[in-house]
Amino acid sequence: MTSAKVNTMSSFPLFPDQASVGAQRVDAVYFGLLAISAFFALLIFVLLIYFALKYRAGRNVDRVIRRTDYLKLEMTWIIIPLLISFAIFGWAAKVYFDLRTPPEDALEIYVVGKQWMWKVQHPNGVRENNELHVPIGRTVKLTMTSQDVIHSFFIPAFRIKQDVLPGRYTSQWFKATKVGEYHLFCAEYCGTSHSGMVGKVVVMEPLDYERWLLQGVAQESMAASGELLYARLSCNTCHKPGGRGPDLAGLFNRQVKLEGGDFVTADREYIRESIINPMAKIVQGYPRMMPTYRTQLTEDQVNEVIEYIKSMSGGQETASRSTK
Ligand code: CUA
Repeated sequence: MTSAKVNTMSSFPLFPDQASVGAQRVDAVYFGLLAISAFFALLIFVLLIYFALKYRAGRNVDRVIRRTDYLKLEMTWIIIPLLISFAIFGWAAKVYFDLRTPPEDALEIYVVGKQWMWKVQHPNGVRENNELHVPIGRTVKLTMTSQDVIHSFFIPAFRIKQDVLPGRYTSQWFKATKVGEYHLFCAEYCGTSHSGMVGKVVVMEPLDYERWLLQGVAQESMAASGELLYARLSCNTCHKPGGRGPDLAGLFNRQVKLEGGDFVTADREYIRESIINPMAKIVQGYPRMMPTYRTQLTEDQVNEVIEYIKSMSGGQETASRSTK
């Protein structure tokens, strides 16, 4: 580790590093707003001082008030700021929506917030705590949930921050542009050791990341761990073709018909709900008999089971370890 890398972690400069594609775009909006504000503040102050001097007491100037119609002037100072406001809104909204919508080909990494640490798992099964290793130049999508209370996953150098909620999934994405180590914070008060819920993001060259992923003992992929859990909990005794529960092969992201005729997409959110609270949305034609697995599975394990169910559908949305 070079001393330059350490410096990015240990100092708190006025501005954090600008280490992602999104960071550049967010900063452009920020400095754009600053420039516009500075321009008008300066304009107003210069005119203020000029007129204060020009019309100061005792000076021989024309002080007659003319009752004239200033329609054109008034229209100008209404329309120009209106156009500027619309332009700022359009620009910032574009940046916001782009940063909220993860690109399709993202490398998916899982994050579980827990009092008071960040648990991270890569698709090939590698786990890490309070650290997040990512390759440079690759779109990374974080799929996040919480084991207990609300946390917030914040990487200042990437200008991304998103609440991490118990009972549902949230996501955010970034594309790192600079190798180095960056701060990772919990940005939502979550109890006694909230301030200690910090870590670091390590951006690596793609080859270094590949090597890092393969370090240590051979890992089960998330899907393989999910398959073991699936067998251990005997899910397959009911979930099979013609079984008492719906067959799960090919299920992921497909529309399923529920009791009562509604349709729902069997996405991550629905599958998690069906594991934790099976009675919430019963598939049409099946009995109400599945018990909850709330107490038997942690959020990490739910992620693994979902990865396995996804892999039964050809594994779309499953990120491979390729660095492309
Ligand atoms: Cu977790 Cu604050």
